[in-house]
Amino acid sequence: MNILIMGPAGAGKGTMSDKIVEEFNIPHISSGDMFRAEISGKTELGLTAQAYINQGLLVPDEVTIEMVKRRLTKDDCKKGYLLDGFPRTLAQAEALEKMTREVGIPLQAIICLEVEFDELAKRITGRRICKHCNEIYNVYFKPSSTEGICDVCGNELFQRSDDTVERLKVRLQEYENQTVPVLEYFKNAGLAKKINAGQPIDEVWKEVKKALEEIND
Ligand code: AP5
Ligand code: MG
Repeated sequence: MNILIMGPAGAGKGTMSDKIVEEFNIPHISSGDMFRAEISGKTELGLTAQAYINQGLLVPDEVTIEMVKRRLTKDDCKKGYLLDGFPRTLAQAEALEKMTREVGIPLQAIICLEVEFDELAKRITGRRICKHCNEIYNVYFKPSSTEGICDVCGNELFQRSDDTVERLKVRLQEYENQTVPVLEYFKNAGLAKKINAGQPIDEVWKEVKKALEEIND
């Protein structure tokens, strides 16, 4: 299945992506994770992206589109893929349509996670991520059994540098200005499924799974 998951910062895209990937056995393509890997590797692309990400701003389209295109046109995406965090601008949405048409892997489902603003701040400031396996935790909603240590692999947890209330405000503004028009753009295709993502993780997953199964039928 060819899936796109959308939603503002902290909506639960990464959390639901982990479950979707397990259920449907498809590659997870997260533009945010790809940028963070480039930043860790101190590559030229990482250095460019870091300046924007640290401010909460979107990385320029040209760089982002090229990076995702390289990944999405690999052979493993022919049996399905899950896009998380791309596209976020109209130019990216148009580029995605073009590249998926060329390779013959058009989108089949768009999951739109909807959450109230007040909930997002707690999710973002409480988030902790494993340095090694990327498992996502939250000190308020999904704590690890031992503080600061990953339950899955035993490595240390860290906090993202853009996970502050100040940066969140900028990220949400970017979402409103640049990404909400993308939701409108996709509306006509009739692929979008709105999910109430303000519920507990298990409840959100039930709805996401149901929506995807309906499409898969
Ligand atoms: P990216 O990494 O994509 O960040 P984001 O969109 O801001 O989203 P997050 O990853 O913060 O949130 P999420 O929805 O994945 O939530 P999660 O599941 O972790 O992008 C980062 C930056 O990279 C951007 O700001 C931009 O600079 C750049 N970038 C990336 N893509 C780009 C693009 N296409 N173009 C240009 N620039 C780009 O959950 C959050 C927390 O909440 C966790 O602690 C989790 O445990 C908890 N949680 C999740 N669900 C629930 C629930 N239902 N109830 C309670 N807690 C929950
Ligand atoms: Mg994420």
